[in-house]
Amino acid sequence: MVIKAEIHCHIEGAASPALVEKQAQKYGADVSAIIRDGSYVWSDFTTFLHAYDVASMLFRTEEDYAQLAETYLSETADQGAIYSEFFISTDHAKTASLSPAAYIEGLAEGMRRARQKSGIEARMIATGLRHKGPEAVEEAARYIVANPHPLVTGFGMAGDERMHHPRDFARAFDIARDAGLRITVHAGELVGAQSVRDALDHLRPERVGHGVRAIEDGDLVRRLADEGVVLEVCPGSNIALSVFPSFADHPFPKLREAGCKVTLSSDDPPFFHTSLEREYEIAATYFGMDEAALMQTTRTAIEAAFVDAETQAALLAKLT
Ligand code: ADE
Ligand code: ZN
Repeated sequence: MVIKAEIHCHIEGAASPALVEKQAQKYGADVSAIIRDGSYVWSDFTTFLHAYDVASMLFRTEEDYAQLAETYLSETADQGAIYSEFFISTDHAKTASLSPAAYIEGLAEGMRRARQKSGIEARMIATGLRHKGPEAVEEAARYIVANPHPLVTGFGMAGDERMHHPRDFARAFDIARDAGLRITVHAGELVGAQSVRDALDHLRPERVGHGVRAIEDGDLVRRLADEGVVLEVCPGSNIALSVFPSFADHPFPKLREAGCKVTLSSDDPPFFHTSLEREYEIAATYFGMDEAALMQTTRTAIEAAFVDAETQAALLAKLT
């Protein structure tokens, strides 16, 4: 089995419909509007985000989140992963009336349990939600800077890319960067190349979530390659959300050939009927990646991981 690593998965988006139905039973909630026949129901990015928000409201305690993280990490380890970096959202915790501190401690406990069982290493990236606006994203940054946790090593922004401009979030990202958090940002998924350029100019990330629509602009692709910006590519997510019509049209091979640092991740696996294993299978089937090329993708992810040098060296040693 190819050794794998992923650096772009939203923890709330990793909850399976079966687990969410179990949580719904526990809290006496009705999830028939977002889950039918064991699958999430949505039709575009907006309705996806709605289903995601409704499902996340069924994780309400520290232990709920410990179980979610343990389940996701253990399953990913079973697929051959030695490392996972996942996005957390203190906004989602607060909406579910869970304190951010309990949320993060629950997730950290799940990480410890999974590591004990399988050896999988993991880190969290705190995020703000773009569609909630600059003040909310700044509040998310301020919270994590004021309440540092050793397993929260990065800051990023997810949510609806069609709203607001990257410059509006510059202060939030400065706050996080100045505190030593590593930076990634979603861009070039729902909006084209200009969105990626604006994110690079105003937020100065070392990685971009998706970034795939950079392919619309050759100069930008060269810039990404020259500056060594790492792309957190999630092909299954992109096809599910109709960012591209088919895997044959996906720009992963072109970005790779242009010298961009590309990695593979699952984004919100059960929402998009994918998994980290499936992402590697997609790359083998549709992008012509042999085992050596897939291993190089894993290496790129670990080289880009938001971990200390010692942990990174230990992970890289597992690849040889
Ligand atoms: N939050 C969860 N999944 C996302 C995605 N694919 N894009 C933006 N925000 C997200
Ligand atoms: Zn994402």
